Amino acid sequence: MTIQAVAHRGYPKKYPENTLSSFLAAVELGFTHLELDVHLSKDGIPVVIHDHTIDRMTNGSGRVVEYTAEELRSFQMEHDEHIPTLKEVLHALQGKIQLNIELKQMGGCYPELEERVLDVITGAGMLDEVVITSFDFDALEKVRGLSEDVRIGLITFSCSKAILNWSQEVKAAFLSMHYGFVTNHYIQQCEQQGIQLMAWTINEASIMKTFIDYPSVWVCTDELERF
Ligand code: G3P
Ligand code: MG
Repeated sequence: MTIQAVAHRGYPKKYPENTLSSFLAAVELGFTHLELDVHLSKDGIPVVIHDHTIDRMTNGSGRVVEYTAEELRSFQMEHDEHIPTLKEVLHALQGKIQLNIELKQMGGCYPELEERVLDVITGAGMLDEVVITSFDFDALEKVRGLSEDVRIGLITFSCSKAILNWSQEVKAAFLSMHYGFVTNHYIQQCEQQGIQLMAWTINEASIMKTFIDYPSVWVCTDELERF
């Protein structure tokens, strides 16, 4: 029995999360899927970082959107790393791994994030290698309006009939749910609707083991070696 694992923000135990080193280390370890987070710089370039601010991961401070991509690049991280652009990441990972690209859109805080991210993905010719995810319904509806072909999926804590109906309406191929709310009922519903279900973020060995009983569910983890 195998479980499909997804490397959350790369290999964060080894290299700073959401950096090229982190992603390439996950590939090196044999992971076939990874998750990363995207914001928009001041000059409208999709950049890969989790937080809305740069304080936790770099030697700088302030909001991502206050800086151009070039300025963001100049802030230092551990292991001599920097905040990469999405373009840079796709270029480095093309043909190596499937990508779950999470849009850190929130209430329209990044007016053109969806267009810009799609431009980068299509420019790299990697539509078949990605799924675009978000907690933000509007962002995903906008992505679907821009592209009929790209795979999309909601990120949610718990599920509901309304979420499943919405997923069908926007032709979502994916659903990213907090592991604590994954039930047999929702696993079956997703299977019936042709939706790939992913549980986030499972780091405890005891919880990982329980997912052996749910082979159709992908598991997102920070603990790549433990997995
Ligand atoms: O995609 C699942 C998970 O990454 C969502 O939460 O905060 O880790 O981006 P977060
Ligand atoms: Mg994420």
